[in-house]
Amino acid sequence: MKKEVSNLLVTKNIALNHDNFLIELKADSPVEQILPGQFVNVKVEKSPNTFLRRPFSVHDTYPVTNSLSILVKAIGDGTKALSAIKEGQYLDVVFPLGNGFKMPSKGETVLLIGGGVGIAPMMHLARISKEIGADVHILLGARTLNDHILIEEFKRYGKVHLTTDDGSLGKKGFVTDHPVMDGEIRFSRYQCCGPDPMMQAVARKAKQNETECEVSLENMMACGFGVCLCCVTKTHEGNKCVCTEGPVFNINDLEWQI
Ligand SMILES: Cc1cc2nc3c(=O)[nH]c(=O)nc-3n(C[C@H](O)[C@H](O)[C@H](O)COP(=O)(O)OP(=O)(O)OC[C@H]3O[C@@H](n4cnc5c(N)ncnc54)[C@H](O)[C@@H]3O)c2cc1C
Ligand code: FES
Repeated sequence: MKKEVSNLLVTKNIALNHDNFLIELKADSPVEQILPGQFVNVKVEKSPNTFLRRPFSVHDTYPVTNSLSILVKAIGDGTKALSAIKEGQYLDVVFPLGNGFKMPSKGETVLLIGGGVGIAPMMHLARISKEIGADVHILLGARTLNDHILIEEFKRYGKVHLTTDDGSLGKKGFVTDHPVMDGEIRFSRYQCCGPDPMMQAVARKAKQNETECEVSLENMMACGFGVCLCCVTKTHEGNKCVCTEGPVFNINDLEWQI
């Protein structure tokens, strides 16, 4: 799909808990063409210290209303300003950006892993993977019970497995402590988004279990167009821009110490 800069109408802004907001935006061009794992770059108004656009994964698309959603975790000036946006206002958005996850074939068994706000791109990926006919498992990790969001929505698309750091919901520990990652179920692929240490731990498990693994990197970005080079990551083929050649990478291509 061709990239565009558009003013998108905010049709919903739902507070999911104290710091996570689901914002739905009406698009002009067909949202079916957006690939799971792609992201949007949003201009933030009413935040004097936020000069650069902020990147957000496409959380899901809604072909019937031709809309897309983003999941915003309010952590700093830009995301706090965005979380206060109201229905009927407009957001200046560049989209769709980046490459997207590899899609499964019918019958493949895949494990989608999201940690914290890294769950954001997993809804779109889970829905499309299920529509293709894959056997979808979704492993969601959070610090504590109240940080887990959208569990029922994820259950529509696959079998959901949960962890919390403190054991208040699901298995106690990190996602890599969950038995679904012990290698007994043969997944054809792990597809993961979350904090770097979590993705690196998942990558180590993937190596142990001889399972293919993709990760969606969330390096800091500025232009989103491959111009400023502030988002580069080291790969075996040299530095690559996460905004144009990612954000999704196969772990075998990354120069991570795993
Ligand atoms: C490809 C991509 C997809 C993303 N998808 C989502 C998403 O779906 N939902 C979501 O809530 N966030 C997502 N992010 C992260 C989001 O863009 C940052 O949270 C946002 O840029 C922070 O902006 P801010 O103005 O609120 O924070 P700032 O005021 O600029 O910074 C607040 C704090 O957050 C840290 N920070 C800023 N940017 C990042 C970052 N990229 N990664 C880690 N820490 C950061 C800063 O160092 C600082 O400590 C994504 C980032 C990338 C690169
Ligand atoms: S954000 Fe500028 S090159 Fe990637």
